[in-house]
Amino acid sequence: MTTETVLQQLKDLQGLALSEIAGAGDARALEAAKVRYLGRKSELTAILRGVKELPPAQRGKVGKESNLAKKAIEAALEARSASLGSAGDGPREDPTLPGVRPARGRRHLITATTEYILDIFRGMGFSVARGPEVEDDYHNFEALNMPEGHPARDMQDTFFLSERTLLRTHTSPVQIRTMKSTPPPIRMVFPGRVYRRETPDATHSSEFFQVELLYVDRGVTMRDLKGTLTDFAHQAFGESLDVRFRPSYFPFVEPGAEMDISCFRCLGKGCALCKQSGWIEILGSGMVHPAVFRHVGYDPEEVTGYAAGMGVERIAMLRHGVPDIRHFYENDIRFLSQF
Ligand code: PHE
Repeated sequence: MTTETVLQQLKDLQGLALSEIAGAGDARALEAAKVRYLGRKSELTAILRGVKELPPAQRGKVGKESNLAKKAIEAALEARSASLGSAGDGPREDPTLPGVRPARGRRHLITATTEYILDIFRGMGFSVARGPEVEDDYHNFEALNMPEGHPARDMQDTFFLSERTLLRTHTSPVQIRTMKSTPPPIRMVFPGRVYRRETPDATHSSEFFQVELLYVDRGVTMRDLKGTLTDFAHQAFGESLDVRFRPSYFPFVEPGAEMDISCFRCLGKGCALCKQSGWIEILGSGMVHPAVFRHVGYDPEEVTGYAAGMGVERIAMLRHGVPDIRHFYENDIRFLSQF
């Protein structure tokens, strides 16, 4: 390539570059022009790199003209950039516009309700522990005074994983695990997920949550049970509510009782929520059966205790007026974000 050709090429290049820069309508077009005419792969860069290959007599001229072209292009870029900057690259940001509120996470209503229940019992001196969801027959049934073939096993339709392992049907097996590993006295609550073979409907789900209560010491009586659970009901649902205990049967307690609160919707007069009875069932409870104490190695002549179990979803539904248990599991943000 002759020196004349190169010098002509430089002139053409500069002309092209300057007109393209002048026509660049925004910062992006300007940047593209900069890359095209000054970038690593640009013609100008190639010429500058080739200067040292030229015969020595021509190097000075070509080198000087290349640098002048480069300076001219750089100056044009800068000038155009400045004028674009003030003319605007479309509308500028308006600092007076309201901000975009970032989506904020929150606890699921089941978690929040579980914590709410636990907090009430923490306030009465109970501590919290958890047990496994995959249980064995012994902890879920046998040690809870439901030996093989016991008809009460059918009260809780069970998901079996094998002949002896299953998904726990209640949190009561955590009572057994706790008493086996800890000597009395015990004052504890056990929250967690439980499983039953249920056909899902507005009040049933094959997975749900419970909070279990266990209090064991010398001289614990039914009065302690009634006092503690009544206090819980008042804290959870309101001081003015009436509470009643109805005899009920669970194999691992004797006597057993279900606790009702007076309907807070109709104040006991009878409505759809309480099925016209004026009362709403809240939990199952009772005095720990001596057979359970013998299974865990406690002496039923030495200690007595009470236990209770409640459904977390049920408490949440009552406290917040949730009409269908399935809302908890569909994870529809429009539902969850209301709480
Ligand atoms: N485990 C029982 C159930 O799930 C509830 C319960 C717990 C009853 C403790 C009495 C004592 O139905």
